[in-house]
Amino acid sequence: MKKRTNKKSLLATSETIYSKRRKSLRSQIKGAVAILPAASLQYSSRDLLHPFHQDSDFFYFTGFNEPDAVLVLRGANTGPRSVLFLNEKDPVLEKWNGERLGTKRAKKKFQVDEILDIATLDAVLPTLIKGADTIHYALGSSEKVDKLVLGSLKSKIAPQPGHPHGLRDSRVFTSQMRAIKDRYELRAIRHAIEITSKSLLQLLPQLKSMSSELHATRELEALYARFGATGLAFPTIIAAGKNATVLHHQPKHQPLWKRELVLIDTGASFKGYNADISRTVPVSGKFTETQAEIYDLVHEALKAACNKAKPGSSLEAIHEAAVKTLTTGLCDLKILRGNPADRIADGSYKRFYMHRTGHWLGLDVHDISPLFEKNGSSVSSYLQPLVAGNVFTIEPGLYFDPKDAKTPAEYRGIGIRLEENIVITENGCEVLTSHVPIERNDIEQLMA
Ligand code: GLY
Ligand code: MN
Ligand code: MN
Repeated sequence: MKKRTNKKSLLATSETIYSKRRKSLRSQIKGAVAILPAASLQYSSRDLLHPFHQDSDFFYFTGFNEPDAVLVLRGANTGPRSVLFLNEKDPVLEKWNGERLGTKRAKKKFQVDEILDIATLDAVLPTLIKGADTIHYALGSSEKVDKLVLGSLKSKIAPQPGHPHGLRDSRVFTSQMRAIKDRYELRAIRHAIEITSKSLLQLLPQLKSMSSELHATRELEALYARFGATGLAFPTIIAAGKNATVLHHQPKHQPLWKRELVLIDTGASFKGYNADISRTVPVSGKFTETQAEIYDLVHEALKAACNKAKPGSSLEAIHEAAVKTLTTGLCDLKILRGNPADRIADGSYKRFYMHRTGHWLGLDVHDISPLFEKNGSSVSSYLQPLVAGNVFTIEPGLYFDPKDAKTPAEYRGIGIRLEENIVITENGCEVLTSHVPIERNDIEQLMA
């Protein structure tokens, strides 16, 4: 008999994986202490709150989605190795802002040595820091913890054993751990992408009947909710016509005219992990000749960039491949003068392609860049050799300013971006977003 698999349980991340991640960080910091605060609630206007977004490092090591908590990890062999401070239950506040786990239930849920009420942080944190020579902490992540950490570092006497004398950014280690996605993370990313892809496949053929960018945006976001998204990766970009030349356009009551292209850059999130897909489609279902010329050029750049996505390559090599293809095409179309190498060297292609070709993707849409050292100095993570488990986007585009009199008139106001999500595998890469058509003919078929 076929074994029934429960999709929900497949998508669950167990406490064991968080516990393993904490253990791994503890072994890397050796005798030091790491302090990882949760995010706080943020007000948008007067006493109204923004949707809560957990601090991604804190979430990576706990899976806990409440504000104001603090995780402390100690490499030491004596005393507690892991302590989680969290908000105690409060029936009055819970009526307003939702249920809290509270210390009693947290003790059953988390495999940490101690669970304490956050109200004890001021008194207890200095005792947990004592004995560590280095504090791993991202200064600025919590005002309250900043004060406690800086207080612990103050000393009028010479550095001594047992008194912390070093502050190191905790993200030196956490960024490197988060750069290689484990199977739980990949599962969540795949699920966020699946939701986004299914939704786009339903939305695109209906675009021509939608009244505006804003209408299409709300329809897409409703599909995300219907398919089980836990949130939005970032504010949805749906940009019609020349609005697509503004990289982070905010959808408006702008009609979707038949002769125009619509750029959609969007992602659902699932349990903190994000998708980030871009497609550019003709509302009428058919690209004009000029639109097709630019579409094919951006698509060619995407393919050239994807060919560089393999172990040992780098985001920089991927970017260079995209820039080379785009600039060569712009010169062929006489939009840029002279030869491509010169136009790359003098940066004049940036008039039409002003952003990078991709970014790391994970718990943050623009995921944290792993700190990378070469010959003893830190260098940009764009130069880091890619390894299996790295997840990132590849997103070339071309944007022709509608008012740029130096651009041939037929191209002015065209904005096209194509964006795929990639995971590096042992031998190459997998395009995670391949279920959403991208070939020009396939797009036309879908839109028809
Ligand atoms: N929408 C943001 C990005 O593609 O990076
Ligand atoms: Mn995007
Ligand atoms: Mn992106």
